Amino acid sequence: MKGMDFLSAADINSQQAELLLDSAMRLKADRHGCQALAGRVLAMIFEKPSLRTRVSFETGMVQLGGHAIYLSPNDISLGKRESVGDVAGNLSRMVDGIMARVFEHEKVVGLAAGADVPVINGLSDLEHPCQALADFQTIAEHKGLANRPTLVFVGDGNNVCHSLMLLARTFDVPMRVACPVGFEPDPALRAACPAVEIINDPVAAVTGADVVYTDVWASMGQEESAAHRKQVFASFQVNEALMAHAKPDAIFMHCLPAHRGDEVTDAVIDGPGSVVLDEAENRLHAQKALLVALMG
Ligand code: CP
Ligand code: NVA
Repeated sequence: MKGMDFLSAADINSQQAELLLDSAMRLKADRHGCQALAGRVLAMIFEKPSLRTRVSFETGMVQLGGHAIYLSPNDISLGKRESVGDVAGNLSRMVDGIMARVFEHEKVVGLAAGADVPVINGLSDLEHPCQALADFQTIAEHKGLANRPTLVFVGDGNNVCHSLMLLARTFDVPMRVACPVGFEPDPALRAACPAVEIINDPVAAVTGADVVYTDVWASMGQEESAAHRKQVFASFQVNEALMAHAKPDAIFMHCLPAHRGDEVTDAVIDGPGSVVLDEAENRLHAQKALLVALMG
């Protein structure tokens, strides 16, 4: 995978995905034991806020013997102060990899087109592939992927949902999406993942689930429609009543940040089945595996 970009969860085949998860598990077992990126530098471009993505990439680079540079929205103004292509060309002369969190997915595609070094999508409006990779590590740890646990995503057919759909296809894990009418996943993603069932009834979707996953109803950049979405999504809240339809040992997942009391209740996110902090931790291990594979 050396030199590859990771813009979409579809960029890796099943063999590469399994190798990455194996590597992530090894790196998790000995988090200071690998110095494969000694002296390497990762530039991290952020057009949106972040807790987990910034801290996990920066910590991961340091643990691997390298360094990461945080570039805030004010530093670069991607495409405004300077074109996306010029930013990519300049960074390629100095650093060994670029991670970018952007609004339009085309910006990570443009960075990759203009860069000679690997480009990693740290979230775009279309996908969040690093999140999905860490999430499948978490599902593997708790349920075992060979058991083909049923993954049910409840809420908005958004960037996180899209990347989970693609990795569910890659790992051959059954997946259902429960969303209000009009908030289904992107048609191109639906066409790419025909095995993923789209259901507009949350109870029917969650029935028999091994994994129940949700995310915010209004993603970053959708703040203006948040009030409207709160009404539309009200019956899609993951609460104890909805979780009662899943298997008794079902786990609850959320990429975080969570809007407690909206898409999930305190009782569920703080309950015994919640693995949200495992997901957050696995961002570190899964991305270290990715960084070593692309830049090592
Ligand atoms: N889950 C996730 O990407 O978190 P941040 O937005 O805090 O990076
Ligand atoms: N769907 C959310 C994920 C945040 C990690 C967003 O894009 O804001």
